[in-house]
Amino acid sequence: MRLRPEIVALPAYAQGKSAAADAYKLSSNENPFDPLPGVVQAMQTATDFNRYPDASARALREALAARFGVSVDEVHIGSGSVALISQLLLAAAGPGDEVVYAWRSFEAYPSLVTVSGATSITVPNRPDFGHDLPAMAAAITDRTRVVIVCTPNNPTSTIVTAEEFDAFMAEVPRDLLVILDEAYVEFVTDPRAVNGKTLLGKYPNLVILRTFSKAYGLAGLRVGYAIGPASILNAARSTAIPLSVTAVASVAALASLEAEPELLARVAQLAERRDAAWRSLRVQGWNVPRPQGNFLWLPTGTQTIEVAEKLGEAGLVVRPFPPDGIRVSIGEEEAVEILLRNTAEIVRTLPTSHLARQLG
Ligand SMILES: Cc1ncc(COP(=O)(O)O)c(C=O)c1O
Repeated sequence: MRLRPEIVALPAYAQGKSAAADAYKLSSNENPFDPLPGVVQAMQTATDFNRYPDASARALREALAARFGVSVDEVHIGSGSVALISQLLLAAAGPGDEVVYAWRSFEAYPSLVTVSGATSITVPNRPDFGHDLPAMAAAITDRTRVVIVCTPNNPTSTIVTAEEFDAFMAEVPRDLLVILDEAYVEFVTDPRAVNGKTLLGKYPNLVILRTFSKAYGLAGLRVGYAIGPASILNAARSTAIPLSVTAVASVAALASLEAEPELLARVAQLAERRDAAWRSLRVQGWNVPRPQGNFLWLPTGTQTIEVAEKLGEAGLVVRPFPPDGIRVSIGEEEAVEILLRNTAEIVRTLPTSHLARQLG
């Protein structure tokens, strides 16, 4: 069978491991709270699924357009923001083109770029685990078609500041698409962080991506959105698999927007839990970058698998990214307590010269 060799060589998407009944799943940056009853009720009213959904998810686009102060054409809905990344890459990049992004970053980027036919150009994160935007700007060539900036960055949980982002955009050609992936933006508490909402209309080449999967707790329904210039989003619409956003997902997203105060109160609770966990880890002697997503980064380096296994034995399913580190989602309160009980001991087993112990 003649298949595309670069596709055959791709590893399948590695999902965060599921947890046994007595373990906590901290491997997929999910929201640990159960769905809100009001959202479930709204979904139960969307029962005409003998019909296809509205292909453009118009009602949800209208609600988001009003919220962001943009036109309906400047909003595009996808079955998860990962679908939107794929569509934008397909729209802008193909064989012979390059896509620049930081590494480590979201683990789906490399394969989505390969599927588009383009080549990934990865720029190592700074020693403090944040994006090196000047180096990313320097990596742009006349073959570059897309740059992806992820803030807070999955998996290091670091932010790009507004100042850094503006300085970066000043370096980027105006006909080069920049995707600002803000899947975790609702968890950000650092006032210095860039927020795509404040940049809408400022750059003709900027698209921001957000999702209902994380803060709004709808990961299983698959719904995310892009906001940006209509001409770019129209191109993304042309590459989309038609009708992939289900009616029930749209209804749940609309109900979640209505229930936003309640959902954001949960987000604030998770952010507080995260900050408390980060402070405790620092006291224990861990070098953990200040987290701004709903997850923490332990730079365990070559000990990554070993530490992830120890946490697994303690009942925590975390996400190892060997040979760099471990991403731990902020889940239930008890899960964080178990984490901290175990990290206190684990840190002492690491050599004092280990990156995970060199407090930055
Ligand atoms: C940085 C980042 N972007 C996008 C996504 C995709 O989220 P979804 O497709 O569920 O909207 C994720 C999910 O983990 C992510 O971490």
